[in-house]
Amino acid sequence: MSLVIVGSFNMDLMSRTPYLPSGGETVLGGPFKMGPGGKGSNQAVAAARQSAEVILVSMLGRDSFGEKAADMLERENIKTEHVFFHSTESTGTALILVDEQSENMIVVAPGANLCLSPLHVRKAEKDIRAASLVLLQFEINMEATIEAIELADKHNVPVLLNPAPFVEFNPAILEKVTYITPNKTEAEGLTGIKIQGEEDVLQAAKKIYKKGVKYVLITLGSSGTYLYSGKETGELIPSFAVNVTDTTGAGDAFNGGFACAIDLGFSVKEAVVYGQAAAALSVTKEGTSPSMPTKEEVEKFLKERTNG
Ligand code: RIB
Ligand code: NA
Repeated sequence: MSLVIVGSFNMDLMSRTPYLPSGGETVLGGPFKMGPGGKGSNQAVAAARQSAEVILVSMLGRDSFGEKAADMLERENIKTEHVFFHSTESTGTALILVDEQSENMIVVAPGANLCLSPLHVRKAEKDIRAASLVLLQFEINMEATIEAIELADKHNVPVLLNPAPFVEFNPAILEKVTYITPNKTEAEGLTGIKIQGEEDVLQAAKKIYKKGVKYVLITLGSSGTYLYSGKETGELIPSFAVNVTDTTGAGDAFNGGFACAIDLGFSVKEAVVYGQAAAALSVTKEGTSPSMPTKEEVEKFLKERTNG
């Protein structure tokens, strides 16, 4: 079947730096790199490279970054019928700094991403109806995200919400969300619980579950993913250890990989393992979208790291 992703595109403008500068400070960094990013588009690339049929609903600017984005999406075999161009707003950009410990800092200038409206999303209703899953993040206009959730619900299509970056939103929408994938910070924002140990993770997961989400997946970076689905306790599914080069985009690799595995009919737990394999491979390479692994790479990795 197909995945519909309603989300952002940003041109990522990246520089490595010996350390992250503090206010008023200038640091001489490493070489400048530019590449396609944005959580919506990154997840689309991650899923398309796993051979899923991916339809992206997004808003670009009429500028050189928008043109580059459109070319890239074509090359990645992502369906772009619902990728629009805004006449005055610029394509989203993200300024990314990565230090020697692979810590990062990101500032997103959303530009055209905020102009994707419920009307644009409604144009994709047919595709949403036919999809196996609708994927959403919080980098576009909230109204458009809510419209996508409503349409998916109307047609009984499961929704995967990656609530990143964390923003305030109406928790009532969570009743219509099937899978939610906050990281630690986002789970803290969603629940007000400070996560320090496994007991806090369980309490946070329970609190989110009670809002109506069927599967709560709290991603804990190198520790793994905590999966909770209404039982007495949840399960920490450990992630794969790899040599880290750049963790930006790892969350997107996870979400794209997880979504594909769900599309293929894997169990939720198997899909988490699949997503974590995609994320592990992505952190070994620099950049966001360019670091997304192919299906062959993920399958080979899983064969090496598990016993089948
Ligand atoms: O999740 C990584 C992404 O966050 C980057 O590609 C950047 O564009 C920001 O949106
Ligand atoms: Na990466």
